[in-house]
Amino acid sequence: MQMNQIVREKIQSTGQKYLIPLIDKEIPEKLENQLEQMDWSCLDLIHGKPQERGNFAPLRAMELSEIQERKEEFRSIGLKAIREGWMGAVLLAGGQGTRLGFDKAKGMFNIGVHKNLYIFEQLIQNLLQVTSEAGAWVPLYIMTSDKNDAQTREFFEEHDYFGYNRDYIRFFVQKMVPAVDFEGNILMESEESLAMSPNGNGGWFQSMISAGLDQDMKEKGVEWLNVFAVDNVLQRIADPVFIGAVIASGCVSGSKVVRKVSPYERVGAMCLEDGKPSIVEYYELTSEMAEAADEKGTLLYGFGVILNYLFSVDALMNVVQKKLPVHVVQKKVPYLDESGELQKPEEPNAYKFETLILDMVYMMDNCLPFEVEREREFAPVKNAVGTDSVESARELLKKNGIMI
Ligand code: UTP
Repeated sequence: MQMNQIVREKIQSTGQKYLIPLIDKEIPEKLENQLEQMDWSCLDLIHGKPQERGNFAPLRAMELSEIQERKEEFRSIGLKAIREGWMGAVLLAGGQGTRLGFDKAKGMFNIGVHKNLYIFEQLIQNLLQVTSEAGAWVPLYIMTSDKNDAQTREFFEEHDYFGYNRDYIRFFVQKMVPAVDFEGNILMESEESLAMSPNGNGGWFQSMISAGLDQDMKEKGVEWLNVFAVDNVLQRIADPVFIGAVIASGCVSGSKVVRKVSPYERVGAMCLEDGKPSIVEYYELTSEMAEAADEKGTLLYGFGVILNYLFSVDALMNVVQKKLPVHVVQKKVPYLDESGELQKPEEPNAYKFETLILDMVYMMDNCLPFEVEREREFAPVKNAVGTDSVESARELLKKNGIMI
């Protein structure tokens, strides 16, 4: 196959150093398809200005004390929702986990010490606690990427779905986008393929629809989706108290949040942006905002998100056509150099283009920030050692009485 005229022109006008030598050659069909589907406007984002933000204002969280007082009321609303079949859960497992440096899907990582305890297994255990209390299954939709889809499916199959009901598990695959070097040259990972990476965790709902899972949700009567990250091993999934609080509040979405350890903790905080729920990044806070507190001393921008959201399916359907902002992030991406050698960089060498689930919150009319205890619900496995690492997550699992 030869490149079509539009692709040739784009390659030439953007000076693609790895692709210009291929212009007059026969190229594999896969590569041709990737080039035809390429969104060239991404290249403009590299040197573009950061996303413009609106006016920030605080958004009050439902705090632990209030949740404690109304716990039983919320729990019974949440359990009813699960029993009625209104709840679904979405596990975001399409990331590459480059910081952890594990070459398989992150959920396949063994967090156990004296026994095997895979991240996927621990998450399923957490969900099973709820489904056995409710006496009803929660449909679990698992997002993978082309890079880890087959191994993830096989892993679940091999382990008999860790005791979950197979009929309530569906896998779907997210989209991929090419990565570029810091000068904007599209990278190739082999002679057949561009260096493709998953397109971020923001496209999950569109990918569910592309996979036909809107039909599955309709058949099952799913009205709410609890979306969560693969890498928090203390993740409470389909938590009836959280579900009940969001339903009782009349909000169309909710976000679990933890109290920041300091005003300057490097975590995105729930807020309002031009009157809409949103997340302000730590580097976007002025010191005045970071330190602002109410009469009780609670920080006004003091509740950080932990990637555990609840969305009403109707609200998601209303925004599914809207475009999310694309973020440019630096990552380590293996690539073929000009002499055709495969390079595996030790440091970030490339930009990836990602949409993020946190930007979906801004598309919602309202959102309930729901406080949870950090030590009980937040044990992220991002790095091999140090903060948010395998070590720190193991400590937290032990503190919560989980045998590892
Ligand atoms: P992270 O932001 O930690 O990204 O993902 P990552 O790719 O897994 O890890 P690093 O940054 O390379 O180390 C947060 C959550 O979003 C999912 C991840 O699997 C994790 O559950 N995610 C991320 C996706 O499902 N798809 C993506 O394209 C990116």
